[in-house]
Amino acid sequence: MRAISGAALQATLDEITAEMRAATERGRVANYIPPLAAVPDSRFGIAVVLGTGEVHVAGDADEAFSIQSISKVFALTLALGAVGDQLWNRVGREPSGSAFNSIVQLETEHGIPRNPFINAGAIVVCDVLLGRLQPREAIGQLLRFVRELAGDDTIAIDESVARAEQDTGFTNRALANYMRAFGNIHGEVELVLGTYFHFCALAMSCRQLAMAGRYLMAGGISDGHRVITDKRARRINAVMMSCGQYDNSGDFAYRIGLPGKSGVGGGILAVAPGIASIAVWSPGLNPSGNSQLGQMALERLVQRTGWSVFEPR
Ligand code: DON
Repeated sequence: MRAISGAALQATLDEITAEMRAATERGRVANYIPPLAAVPDSRFGIAVVLGTGEVHVAGDADEAFSIQSISKVFALTLALGAVGDQLWNRVGREPSGSAFNSIVQLETEHGIPRNPFINAGAIVVCDVLLGRLQPREAIGQLLRFVRELAGDDTIAIDESVARAEQDTGFTNRALANYMRAFGNIHGEVELVLGTYFHFCALAMSCRQLAMAGRYLMAGGISDGHRVITDKRARRINAVMMSCGQYDNSGDFAYRIGLPGKSGVGGGILAVAPGIASIAVWSPGLNPSGNSQLGQMALERLVQRTGWSVFEPR
């Protein structure tokens, strides 16, 4: 890994932002709900929090966006905290090679989703959290958790997004009901989904997201406080690396070489263990539902910094 100064990193982020602003192939903004469809595809932001605590941002890094499936990382962290490794009896940790909302594997795999980052897996994670909490409490717990991780109490859930998810979430309803038929959803489907939709509706900026991801960069420690064990942080990063971009995860590992989790709002949280927590946002998506320019920006960042985990240390 090449050492990079704060000034050089800032210059790199500014350069990447200028390149992404000029890009013509920007992907397609999610249009399954109006609040996401309304986000202009011109937006681009990036934030990097270094292990030293130094923060560098560029572009629209302070504009809040819908983090969508990135919330699956925080929900997984809470569920592992609640029930420990027993979680893995109800959800796997293998890449699915299928779309984020696919139902096909659930039939042959008896209602056990491949991993906690596809929709079916995240719905099981919500059900696990509801084994101990009411939906309102679970939503409050997640919100408090990300606020604490980011050190920012202004982070909120966008209720208009949660409502729109609720109105259109027929595939998620199918997934949850199908898993319930296999006995892998224990609670009331509508309550589990209501929780899941609120998690997806968390609104955060790149700066807030990169701050919230510090515990994954720093062996489970954020702001001097232990959030999870170092072993658990390593393992969450491993699942992010292998499953964080759905059927596009292999390509992400190949091009970028970092644990990362995407959301259909166009955000990606990426982690360079021991080095940096990175959040990038551009709403146009590739065919797998991951930010087109977000991935390209991360690819350029790792090329210019040598931060890929596959770079000789
Ligand atoms: O449940 C859904 O389908 C969406 N609310 C979230 C999916 C998502 O972010 C997939 N990510 N790329």
